Amino acid sequence: MAKISYVDGFYLHHKDSKIHIDDRGYHFGDAVYEVIIFNEGIFFDYNEHIKRLLRSLKSLDIELPISTNSLKIIINNVIKKNRIVFGSVYIQVSRGVAQRNHSYKNLTLKPIIIISTTEKNKDYLNNFVGVSAITLNDNRWARPDIKTTQLLPNILAKTIADKKSAYEAIFIDQYDYITEGSSSNIWIVNYDNQLITRNLDGQILSGITRNSVKKCAMKNNIKVLERKFSKHELLTAKEVFLTSATSFVTPIVKIDNSSINNGLIGELSCSLRELYLKAMKSSN
Ligand code: PDD
Repeated sequence: MAKISYVDGFYLHHKDSKIHIDDRGYHFGDAVYEVIIFNEGIFFDYNEHIKRLLRSLKSLDIELPISTNSLKIIINNVIKKNRIVFGSVYIQVSRGVAQRNHSYKNLTLKPIIIISTTEKNKDYLNNFVGVSAITLNDNRWARPDIKTTQLLPNILAKTIADKKSAYEAIFIDQYDYITEGSSSNIWIVNYDNQLITRNLDGQILSGITRNSVKKCAMKNNIKVLERKFSKHELLTAKEVFLTSATSFVTPIVKIDNSSINNGLIGELSCSLRELYLKAMKSSN
Protein backbone atom coordinates (compact mmCIF):
# COMPACT_ATOMS: atom_id res chain seq x y z
CA MET A 1 0.00 0.00 0.00
CA ALA A 2 1.33 3.47 -0.89
CA LYS A 3 2.30 5.62 2.05
CA ILE A 4 0.30 8.84 2.28
CA SER A 5 1.47 12.01 3.99
CA TYR A 6 -0.04 15.44 4.48
CA VAL A 7 1.98 18.33 3.03
CA ASP A 8 0.71 21.89 3.25
CA GLY A 9 -2.95 21.19 2.54
CA PHE A 10 -2.63 18.04 0.42
CA TYR A 11 -2.62 14.29 1.05
CA LEU A 12 0.17 12.96 -1.14
CA HIS A 13 1.89 9.71 -1.92
CA HIS A 14 5.24 9.43 -0.21
CA LYS A 15 7.17 9.92 -3.43
CA ASP A 16 5.33 13.19 -4.10
CA SER A 17 5.57 14.50 -0.51
CA LYS A 18 8.00 17.32 -1.13
CA ILE A 19 8.59 20.75 0.32
CA HIS A 20 9.89 23.85 -1.42
CA ILE A 21 13.67 24.43 -1.48
CA ASP A 22 13.04 27.81 0.18
CA ASP A 23 11.24 26.33 3.18
CA ARG A 24 12.86 27.95 6.22
CA GLY A 25 12.75 24.63 8.02
CA TYR A 26 15.05 23.28 5.33
CA HIS A 27 17.32 26.35 5.28
CA PHE A 28 17.61 27.12 8.97
CA GLY A 29 15.88 24.41 11.01
CA ASP A 30 13.27 27.15 11.52
CA ALA A 31 10.58 24.61 12.42
CA VAL A 32 9.18 22.68 15.35
CA TYR A 33 7.92 19.12 15.58
CA GLU A 34 6.22 16.47 17.69
CA VAL A 35 6.17 12.67 17.65
CA ILE A 36 3.06 10.98 19.06
CA ILE A 37 2.41 7.25 19.48
CA PHE A 38 -1.01 5.74 18.79
CA ASN A 39 -2.40 2.28 19.24
CA GLU A 40 -5.85 1.02 18.21
CA GLY A 41 -7.33 4.51 18.02
CA ILE A 42 -5.75 5.71 21.25
CA PHE A 43 -3.08 8.40 21.19
CA PHE A 44 -0.50 8.38 23.96
CA ASP A 45 -0.67 11.81 25.66
CA TYR A 46 -2.16 13.55 22.60
CA ASN A 47 -3.21 16.75 24.37
CA GLU A 48 0.13 17.15 26.11
CA HIS A 49 2.04 16.81 22.83
CA ILE A 50 -0.20 19.40 21.15
CA LYS A 51 0.22 21.77 24.09
CA ARG A 52 4.00 21.46 23.76
CA LEU A 53 3.77 21.99 19.99
CA LEU A 54 1.90 25.25 20.64
CA ARG A 55 4.48 26.24 23.27
CA SER A 56 7.36 25.57 20.87
CA LEU A 57 5.60 27.56 18.13
CA LYS A 58 5.03 30.45 20.52
CA SER A 59 8.71 30.44 21.55
CA LEU A 60 9.66 30.85 17.88
CA ASP A 61 6.95 33.39 17.15
CA ILE A 62 5.18 31.10 14.65
CA GLU A 63 1.41 30.78 14.55
CA LEU A 64 -0.28 27.46 13.83
CA PRO A 65 -2.15 28.29 10.58
CA ILE A 66 -5.12 25.99 11.36
CA SER A 67 -7.17 25.20 14.47
CA THR A 68 -6.11 22.38 16.76
CA ASN A 69 -9.40 20.64 15.86
CA SER A 70 -8.49 20.70 12.17
CA LEU A 71 -5.02 19.45 13.04
CA LYS A 72 -6.52 16.45 14.83
CA ILE A 73 -8.79 15.69 11.86
CA ILE A 74 -5.78 15.75 9.51
CA ILE A 75 -3.71 13.54 11.82
CA ASN A 76 -6.56 11.01 11.99
CA ASN A 77 -6.98 11.15 8.21
CA VAL A 78 -3.29 10.41 7.64
CA ILE A 79 -3.47 7.42 10.00
CA LYS A 80 -6.68 6.14 8.34
CA LYS A 81 -5.35 6.60 4.81
CA ASN A 82 -2.31 4.50 5.75
CA ARG A 83 -4.49 1.94 7.61
CA ILE A 84 -2.09 1.84 10.54
CA VAL A 85 -3.20 0.40 13.87
CA PHE A 86 -0.03 0.90 15.91
CA GLY A 87 2.59 3.49 15.06
CA SER A 88 3.84 7.02 15.42
CA VAL A 89 2.76 10.24 13.85
CA TYR A 90 5.22 13.01 13.00
CA ILE A 91 4.00 16.61 12.92
CA GLN A 92 6.25 19.40 11.71
CA VAL A 93 5.45 23.08 11.37
CA SER A 94 7.98 25.35 9.68
CA ARG A 95 7.83 29.15 9.53
CA GLY A 96 7.14 28.96 5.80
CA VAL A 97 8.69 29.53 2.41
CA ALA A 98 10.75 32.65 1.68
CA GLN A 99 13.85 33.56 -0.25
CA ARG A 100 16.82 32.79 1.99
CA ASN A 101 17.36 35.59 4.51
CA HIS A 102 18.19 35.11 8.18
CA SER A 103 15.74 37.68 9.54
CA TYR A 104 12.04 37.00 9.17
CA LYS A 105 10.99 40.55 10.09
CA ASN A 106 8.56 42.03 7.56
CA LEU A 107 7.96 38.63 5.96
CA THR A 108 4.34 37.53 5.70
CA LEU A 109 4.71 33.79 5.81
CA LYS A 110 2.27 30.92 5.85
CA PRO A 111 3.64 28.20 8.15
CA ILE A 112 3.94 24.84 6.41
CA ILE A 113 2.50 21.78 8.15
CA ILE A 114 3.63 18.30 7.27
CA ILE A 115 2.27 15.14 8.87
CA SER A 116 3.46 11.61 8.26
CA THR A 117 2.99 8.30 10.01
CA THR A 118 5.13 5.22 10.55
CA GLU A 119 3.86 1.76 11.37
CA LYS A 120 5.41 -0.09 14.29
CA ASN A 121 5.44 -3.78 15.00
CA LYS A 122 3.22 -4.77 17.95
CA ASP A 123 6.17 -6.64 19.47
CA TYR A 124 7.65 -3.21 20.05
CA LEU A 125 5.09 -2.67 22.82
CA ASN A 126 5.69 -5.91 24.66
CA ASN A 127 9.26 -7.00 24.03
CA PHE A 128 11.98 -4.80 25.36
CA VAL A 129 15.62 -5.18 26.22
CA GLY A 130 18.14 -3.38 28.37
CA VAL A 131 20.21 -1.05 26.19
CA SER A 132 23.64 0.53 26.36
CA ALA A 133 24.53 4.22 26.21
CA ILE A 134 27.56 6.43 25.90
CA THR A 135 28.21 9.83 27.47
CA LEU A 136 29.21 12.93 25.49
CA ASN A 137 29.62 16.63 26.19
CA ASP A 138 26.42 18.57 25.67
CA ASN A 139 27.23 20.93 22.81
CA ARG A 140 23.67 21.98 21.93
CA TRP A 141 22.31 25.53 21.76
CA ALA A 142 21.05 27.20 24.92
CA ARG A 143 17.33 26.48 24.27
CA PRO A 144 17.00 22.68 24.18
CA ASP A 145 13.64 23.17 25.92
CA ILE A 146 12.13 24.12 22.54
CA LYS A 147 11.37 21.13 20.30
CA THR A 148 12.88 22.42 17.06
CA THR A 149 14.02 20.41 14.05
CA GLN A 150 17.46 21.97 14.46
CA LEU A 151 19.01 18.74 15.77
CA LEU A 152 22.59 18.60 14.47
CA PRO A 153 24.30 17.95 17.84
CA ASN A 154 21.64 15.33 18.59
CA ILE A 155 22.03 13.46 15.32
CA LEU A 156 25.82 13.57 15.50
CA ALA A 157 25.72 12.25 19.07
CA LYS A 158 23.24 9.50 18.17
CA THR A 159 25.44 8.45 15.26
CA ILE A 160 28.53 8.25 17.48
CA ALA A 161 26.47 6.06 19.83
CA ASP A 162 25.21 3.96 16.94
CA LYS A 163 28.75 3.42 15.63
CA LYS A 164 29.64 2.08 19.07
CA SER A 165 26.53 -0.14 18.99
CA ALA A 166 24.96 1.92 21.76
CA TYR A 167 21.28 2.87 21.78
CA GLU A 168 21.59 6.38 23.15
CA ALA A 169 24.09 9.18 23.76
CA ILE A 170 23.69 10.87 27.14
CA PHE A 171 24.67 14.54 27.25
CA ILE A 172 26.78 15.88 30.13
CA ASP A 173 26.90 19.62 30.86
CA GLN A 174 30.06 21.61 31.60
CA TYR A 175 29.68 20.99 35.37
CA ASP A 176 29.56 17.20 34.90
CA TYR A 177 25.79 16.95 35.40
CA ILE A 178 23.57 14.92 33.10
CA THR A 179 21.23 16.94 30.94
CA GLU A 180 19.34 14.39 28.81
CA GLY A 181 19.72 11.88 26.00
CA SER A 182 20.05 12.84 22.33
CA SER A 183 16.35 11.98 21.94
CA SER A 184 15.21 11.03 25.45
CA ASN A 185 15.09 12.06 29.09
CA ILE A 186 17.35 10.22 31.53
CA TRP A 187 16.42 8.87 34.96
CA ILE A 188 18.30 7.12 37.74
CA VAL A 189 17.07 5.05 40.66
CA ASN A 190 19.01 5.45 43.91
CA TYR A 191 19.54 2.85 46.64
CA ASP A 192 16.47 4.19 48.51
CA ASN A 193 14.41 3.32 45.42
CA GLN A 194 13.79 6.97 44.67
CA LEU A 195 13.66 8.21 41.09
CA ILE A 196 15.84 11.13 40.10
CA THR A 197 15.55 13.08 36.86
CA ARG A 198 16.86 16.53 35.99
CA ASN A 199 14.55 19.41 36.88
CA LEU A 200 13.11 21.54 34.07
CA ASP A 201 15.78 24.24 34.21
CA GLY A 202 15.71 25.07 30.50
CA GLN A 203 18.61 22.71 29.77
CA ILE A 204 16.36 19.78 28.81
CA LEU A 205 13.19 19.16 26.87
CA SER A 206 10.12 18.86 29.05
CA GLY A 207 9.48 15.29 27.92
CA ILE A 208 5.83 14.31 27.73
CA THR A 209 6.73 10.72 28.64
CA ARG A 210 8.87 12.06 31.49
CA ASN A 211 5.82 13.80 32.90
CA SER A 212 3.54 10.78 32.50
CA VAL A 213 6.09 8.46 34.11
CA LYS A 214 6.44 10.93 36.97
CA LYS A 215 2.65 10.84 37.48
CA CYS A 216 2.60 7.01 37.35
CA ALA A 217 5.39 6.84 39.93
CA MET A 218 3.73 9.29 42.28
CA LYS A 219 0.38 7.46 42.06
CA ASN A 220 2.22 4.32 43.13
CA ASN A 221 4.00 5.99 46.05
CA ILE A 222 7.38 5.98 44.34
CA LYS A 223 9.24 9.13 45.27
CA VAL A 224 10.40 11.35 42.38
CA LEU A 225 13.17 13.89 42.94
CA GLU A 226 13.63 16.46 40.18
CA ARG A 227 17.19 17.70 40.49
CA LYS A 228 20.50 17.68 38.71
CA PHE A 229 22.57 14.52 39.08
CA SER A 230 26.21 13.99 38.23
CA LYS A 231 27.92 11.59 35.89
CA HIS A 232 29.25 9.79 38.97
CA GLU A 233 25.69 9.33 40.31
CA LEU A 234 24.64 8.05 36.89
CA LEU A 235 27.39 5.46 36.68
CA THR A 236 26.88 4.24 40.27
CA ALA A 237 23.05 4.29 40.24
CA LYS A 238 21.03 1.24 41.18
CA GLU A 239 19.10 1.49 37.91
CA VAL A 240 19.11 3.84 34.94
CA PHE A 241 16.41 4.24 32.31
CA LEU A 242 15.39 6.64 29.59
CA THR A 243 11.97 7.87 28.55
CA SER A 244 10.60 9.15 25.26
CA ALA A 245 7.43 8.87 23.20
CA THR A 246 8.98 6.20 21.00
CA SER A 247 11.02 4.30 23.62
CA PHE A 248 8.46 4.51 26.49
CA VAL A 249 10.53 3.45 29.54
CA THR A 250 13.71 1.71 28.36
CA PRO A 251 16.24 0.38 30.89
CA ILE A 252 19.91 1.25 30.38
CA VAL A 253 22.19 -1.54 31.58
CA LYS A 254 25.58 -0.30 30.38
CA ILE A 255 27.03 3.21 30.11
CA ASP A 256 30.48 3.73 28.55
CA ASN A 257 32.42 0.87 30.17
CA SER A 258 30.31 0.58 33.34
CA SER A 259 27.61 -2.01 33.88
CA ILE A 260 24.46 -0.78 35.58
CA ASN A 261 22.65 -3.23 37.87
CA ASN A 262 25.14 -5.91 36.77
CA GLY A 263 23.93 -5.52 33.22
CA LEU A 264 20.38 -6.57 34.12
CA ILE A 265 17.04 -4.83 33.67
CA GLY A 266 16.07 -3.28 37.00
CA GLU A 267 12.82 -4.11 38.81
CA LEU A 268 11.66 -0.54 39.14
CA SER A 269 12.39 0.28 35.49
CA CYS A 270 10.39 -2.77 34.50
CA SER A 271 7.38 -1.95 36.65
CA LEU A 272 7.40 1.71 35.58
CA ARG A 273 7.30 0.62 31.95
CA GLU A 274 4.28 -1.55 32.70
CA LEU A 275 2.54 1.20 34.68
CA TYR A 276 3.19 3.72 31.90
CA LEU A 277 1.88 1.47 29.12
CA LYS A 278 -1.16 0.55 31.19
CA ALA A 279 -1.91 4.24 31.81
CA MET A 280 -1.53 5.03 28.09
CA LYS A 281 -3.73 2.14 26.94
CA SER A 282 -6.57 3.35 29.15
CA SER A 283 -6.13 7.06 28.36
CA ASN A 284 -8.41 9.24 26.14
N1 PDD B 1 12.39 12.85 20.95
N2 PDD B 1 14.73 14.95 24.93
C1 PDD B 1 14.97 15.07 23.61
C2 PDD B 1 16.17 15.82 23.17
C3 PDD B 1 14.09 14.48 22.69
O1 PDD B 1 14.33 14.61 21.37
C4 PDD B 1 12.97 13.74 23.17
C5 PDD B 1 11.99 13.10 22.24
C6 PDD B 1 12.77 13.65 24.56
C7 PDD B 1 11.60 12.92 25.14
O2 PDD B 1 10.41 13.64 24.93
P1 PDD B 1 9.00 12.91 24.79
O3 PDD B 1 8.84 12.07 26.00
O4 PDD B 1 8.03 14.03 24.77
O5 PDD B 1 9.04 12.11 23.51
C8 PDD B 1 13.67 14.28 25.41
C9 PDD B 1 11.47 12.35 19.96
C10 PDD B 1 10.85 11.06 20.32
C11 PDD B 1 12.15 12.37 18.60
O6 PDD B 1 12.92 13.29 18.36
O7 PDD B 1 11.88 11.49 17.77
